Amino acid sequence: EVKAKIAPSMLSSDFANLASETQRMLNSGADWLHMDIMVSLFFLCCYLCPESVNPEVVATLAYAELTTGHWVGIRIIVQLWKVMLYLFRHFVPNLTIGAPVIESLRKHTTAYLDCHLMVTNPIDYVEPLGKAGASGFTFHVETSKDNWQELIQRIKSLGMRPGVALKPGTPIGDVYPLVEAEAPVEMVLVMTVEPGFGGQKFMPEMMDKVRILRKKYPSLDIEVDGGLGPSTIEMAASAGANCIVAGSSVFGAPEPAEVISLLRNSVQK
Ligand code: DX5
Ligand code: ZN
Repeated sequence: EVKAKIAPSMLSSDFANLASETQRMLNSGADWLHMDIMVSLFFLCCYLCPESVNPEVVATLAYAELTTGHWVGIRIIVQLWKVMLYLFRHFVPNLTIGAPVIESLRKHTTAYLDCHLMVTNPIDYVEPLGKAGASGFTFHVETSKDNWQELIQRIKSLGMRPGVALKPGTPIGDVYPLVEAEAPVEMVLVMTVEPGFGGQKFMPEMMDKVRILRKKYPSLDIEVDGGLGPSTIEMAASAGANCIVAGSSVFGAPEPAEVISLLRNSVQK
């Protein structure tokens, strides 16, 4: 049977003390450390149209248009931002950690680093993260429609464990081919919030996906991520999730060890 894995999300930790925060979580009973790797929409804007995110350019333009009353340039920039948001909607409006941080952290711990990639081109990060010492590499199915086979192979060849994540709006059927492939993913991460930030509200309607997956694949690792804590764990555990990511509920608790053991007991029941 599948084992419970409790994975505190380091996104809620004090990044300035990452090494001691990870140690604190391991001492509190954590099995894995969940590392959220995100590249921001802002960076994408910088790449596609550097002027649109240059405050000096935008301010000069706004000032010039203030005198004319015609907000043409500013309007174009806002539309551009909207188009980019639409085109790259699987991007998240946040920027967290990357391979250099994983590499530094690896020098302080042998723990399983469960990396969750919220980026458009996960394949670009396979080698850097593998070399940095990541343990699990979970990419989003929305970003990898055409190259997941190659992606899984490369993740494995770098000694990492491949996983696939799906956003709340993505149908569960999208991950079946990856679980049933000749070189399959070893974990499915069902997002229970829109990816981007910690501290959001759990979406119970995602439990249908977990139930369907558990029924279809009795020995698959199924991870849930977003809004998990003492008040939501029962729903996730009874649906069949066994890998539990928890950020704010663990880090916000006076006794993280109590929350971690509560989560574990619910899964193991
Ligand atoms: C959200 C991240 C989560 C997040 C969970 O994009 O993938 O891992 O840190 O945080 P909580 O548990 O606070 O919802
Ligand atoms: Zn995550």
